[in-house]
Amino acid sequence: MKSKLGVNIDHVATLRNARGENHPVLLKAAKEVIKYGADSITIHVREDQRHVKKKDAIKLMQNIKKPINLEMAPTIDMTNFAIKLSPKYVCIVPEKRQEITTEGGLKLSQKNLKKIIKKLQKYKIEVSLFINPNIKDIQNSHKLGANAIEIHTGSFANALKKKNKKKIIIEFNKIRKCRLECDKTKMKFNLGHGLDFQSTKYLKKIKNINEYNIGHFIIGESLFDGFSKVIKKFKRIIN
Ligand code: PXP
Repeated sequence: MKSKLGVNIDHVATLRNARGENHPVLLKAAKEVIKYGADSITIHVREDQRHVKKKDAIKLMQNIKKPINLEMAPTIDMTNFAIKLSPKYVCIVPEKRQEITTEGGLKLSQKNLKKIIKKLQKYKIEVSLFINPNIKDIQNSHKLGANAIEIHTGSFANALKKKNKKKIIIEFNKIRKCRLECDKTKMKFNLGHGLDFQSTKYLKKIKNINEYNIGHFIIGESLFDGFSKVIKKFKRIIN
C-alpha cells in the first residue's frame, strides 16, 4: 500500500496573521506543496480562527484540486461549516482555547459525536477521528462509524526527540498494536502530530499507513531547504 502525505499548512497562516496582512499567501503555499508531492492539504479551522480562517478554507476549496482535510472540533457551528464547505475529509479533533497545539486525542464518550459523524457522512464527507494510541479508542471509533482514525503520534515523536529509549519502544508498540486492531475493521489508518524525518522513518516499520499528516516540521524546515526538498524527502521516506 502506498502511503499518502497530508501537509498541514496552519503555520503559514500563523506567520501571515502575525502582520495582519496577506503575506505569505496561504493559497500559494497550498499550491506549492501540492506541486512537490503533497497528496492532500490539511487545515485546522479553530473556533477562534486564530490561524486558518473560514474564508481561507473557502478559498482553498475553490482553488485547489487535491483533497482538503478539514480538522475541526465537534461543535454544531463547525459541523454546519464543514457541510457548507464540503471537503473530502474531516478530522474531528479536541480543541481547547488556550492550547498551543492539539494536545491529545478525542474523548470518544462525548455526546453528539455519533450524530455529528452521521451528519457529515450524509453529505458525503469522510470522517476521521483523532485519537490517542489505544485499542479501546480504535474499537470505539469503529462503533461510532468513523471512516478513518488518525493516531496522535505526539508522545512517540517526543520520546524519539528526547532519545528516551524505553519510552520510544512503549509508544511505538502502542501505535503498532493499534494498527493490528484497526486491521479488524475497514477504517483507514492515519498518523499525525509532532512528526519529523526521523520519527516518520521509524514509523515506516508499521505497514499499511494510509496517510501521514505533517505540519509544523515541514513548514519550519522549509524555511531552510524549501518546500521542494523537504516534501520530496518526506515522500521518499514514506514510500
Ligand atoms: N494531525 C492533527 C489531527 C493535528 O491536529 C495536527 C496539528 O494541528 C497535525 C496532524 C500536525 O501536527 P504537526 O504540526 O505537529 O506536524
